[in-house]
Amino acid sequence: MAKMWEGRLGGDTDKIADDFNSSIATDSRMFKEDIAGSIAHAQMLAFCNIITMDEEKVIIDGLRQILADIQSGSLKIDMACEDIHMFVEQELTCRIGDTGKKLHTARSRNDQVALDLRLYLKNETADIIQKTKNLILAITEKAEIGKDYIMPGYTHLQRAQPVTFGHQLMAYAFMLIRDIDRLNDCAKRTDISPIGSCALAGTTFNTDRFFEAQTLGISGVCENSLDGVSDRDFAIELLFDLSVLMMHLSRFSEEIVLWSSFEFRFIELSDAFTTGSSIMPQKKNPDMAELVRGKTGRVYGDLMALLTTLKGLPLAYNKDMQEDKEGVFDACDTVKACLDVFCGMINTLTPLPENMKKAAQNGFINATDLADYLVNKGLPFRSAYKISGQIVSFCIQNAQILETLPLKDYQTFCELIDKDVYTAVDLSTCLNNRKSYGGTSVPSVQRQIKIVQEKIK
Ligand code: ARG
Repeated sequence: MAKMWEGRLGGDTDKIADDFNSSIATDSRMFKEDIAGSIAHAQMLAFCNIITMDEEKVIIDGLRQILADIQSGSLKIDMACEDIHMFVEQELTCRIGDTGKKLHTARSRNDQVALDLRLYLKNETADIIQKTKNLILAITEKAEIGKDYIMPGYTHLQRAQPVTFGHQLMAYAFMLIRDIDRLNDCAKRTDISPIGSCALAGTTFNTDRFFEAQTLGISGVCENSLDGVSDRDFAIELLFDLSVLMMHLSRFSEEIVLWSSFEFRFIELSDAFTTGSSIMPQKKNPDMAELVRGKTGRVYGDLMALLTTLKGLPLAYNKDMQEDKEGVFDACDTVKACLDVFCGMINTLTPLPENMKKAAQNGFINATDLADYLVNKGLPFRSAYKISGQIVSFCIQNAQILETLPLKDYQTFCELIDKDVYTAVDLSTCLNNRKSYGGTSVPSVQRQIKIVQEKIK
């Protein structure tokens, strides 16, 4: 095929080399951004009297028509082109003739591709933020329902202290709120225009980079052209933010897998978000949660791949950088799919508060409350802790629980213990007493729900 650079290079490239070099299979999805960038570039060139207003009009009309034709499906992107930038330019020239060849004045594919990627990721980030908000809403709705469902809170996956289902869910809502904060922060650094950096050193033409950035609705321009064409920090940062987001979803997934097992049975997942087994009729598998947990690995991989690709590159553009897009697109696609499925899974799951409560009753998760009770009777905490431990040990040996251990048995360990111990170790007392800011009491969880709802408004 005839090449854009055929002025310098004579012979055709080998077909194998052509295929290897091509990125259009990956970057064709940036066609809208590429055309928007080219329209703004034509506007800038005319504004700066580098092309005439007539030429500007012909170029922009041509570009708009190409966009409409791609969107309607009447124009197929030619996969034989090296990349989307070449395709759009070639198609334009094909349609409007020599005027099309003026579009690439004071521009290079190096700044063009950096611009396209920033525009594309800016939109993706906004999309991901919206989907994260939807998930947070689903979580807070369930938390509202489960704000007084008592369940065991765990450390080391051992029953530790009573919490509410709502409290546990809200922990994830706050993680996701921080994920949104991080994404918004990253979006600020993505929203910087590299266009006008040209190949690497800027241009001899009297261009206006600020005009072009403004036309594109971008908030600033990069200050150094070498940095402008070489920087992929914004993509790495997005990948990191997405990795943390996935890590959060993955931890949540792990709990959903546990909670939906017969051993726990704290929740029942909807049939719509589970699968059966081809051989074991009793099975209802939490595949969605498992897949989210599994896909976390590939997003981490995308982050590591791009970090590694860039680590040894001298300034400015190197072809290695063409490898930047596949991973970051994969991460965005993966995260969006995970957020959608997670939202549906949360919306449709049924909490089983009876089972949560049963699990909370038999694990001595009120032992700390018994110690606190003894402290209120005047014992130092360490002594209270020891006595409480002895009582628990006695109960285990005698198949008793703190809620029903006879008073005379209690008193063999400490005569300060009185009838009011039963209120102190009652699970709802344990819960309601944890009034500290951020704690598990119902009013505290309600405040957490309010804070989150305010934040995502
Ligand atoms: N397809 C290339 C990429 O994605 C576009 C930039 C090409 N620039 C170059 N000098 N070959 O990175």
